[in-house]
Amino acid sequence: MPFPAELIDRMRAASRVAVLTGAGVSAESGVPTFRDAQTGLWSQYDPTALATPQAFQRNPRLVWDWYRHRRQLVESAAPNPAHYALVDMEQHYDSFTLITQNVDGLHWQAGSRNLLELHGNIARSRCFECGAYADRWSDDDNGPPPCASCGGLLRPDVVWFGEGIPSRALRSAVAAAEVADVFLCIGTSAVVQPSASLPAMALRGGAYVAEVNIEETALSVLTHCSLRGKAGELLPALMQAVTGQERRSGEVG
Ligand code: OAD
Repeated sequence: MPFPAELIDRMRAASRVAVLTGAGVSAESGVPTFRDAQTGLWSQYDPTALATPQAFQRNPRLVWDWYRHRRQLVESAAPNPAHYALVDMEQHYDSFTLITQNVDGLHWQAGSRNLLELHGNIARSRCFECGAYADRWSDDDNGPPPCASCGGLLRPDVVWFGEGIPSRALRSAVAAAEVADVFLCIGTSAVVQPSASLPAMALRGGAYVAEVNIEETALSVLTHCSLRGKAGELLPALMQAVTGQERRSGEVG
């Protein structure tokens, strides 16, 4: 795919690159995006109505089981070429920050290390009452396990609607956006704050902002270029166009 010359030039000249990813970067790993129609039993539920502290307090077992279902989906998923292209990007630039809204852990699994998980990670659980983290828990059909410290209920270590983003991760994300030479937005509908404001912060800082998405988003008009296509196809091709090298990390294919 021919990329805009300015995008290639800016990425070749950049020393500081920041990337914001959303659920679209994991779609080709078979992980449903957040706002895709939910499948099976979960098709009757609006995800935004399940991912709240109030929903957990009203029906802890329902919310726990929904995350248990998503954890099982993620456990059977593997990073795709988009994840590996971002690992290559991290190794290519002196300063690279990957900011993700995803909770599936696939960036870490692919090898990304300068990674900010703004919305937490579905593989971790913590106590709804005392906040103590749980390394392991009984994964059975009995709903949320008890906290070993206080007996309260365990909950997924993810950010729910109405909850704050981990402050250190958010500060680092804002700092990376504000000084970026190039800011990429990959596979996000850009509707959830504060993540959705990061591209505008990058623009104000003078960054070249580009988007990769299979469809237009609210962000598209803000960007210098909005590439239409799958992240798993466009990102490896983009890195090859920028570096002239085939993918160096992760699986081939
Ligand atoms: P969404 O489901 O809102 O959006 C996924 C985006 O990925 C859409 O814009 C799709 O067009 C795009 N997409 C799908 N497949 C793609 C592919 N193969 N390549 C490129 N793009 C693709 O998910 P997010 O934007 O991540 O937060 O949602 C952000 C946050 O909203 C989530 O982290 C979640 C939710 O509130 C919390 O739960 C706190």
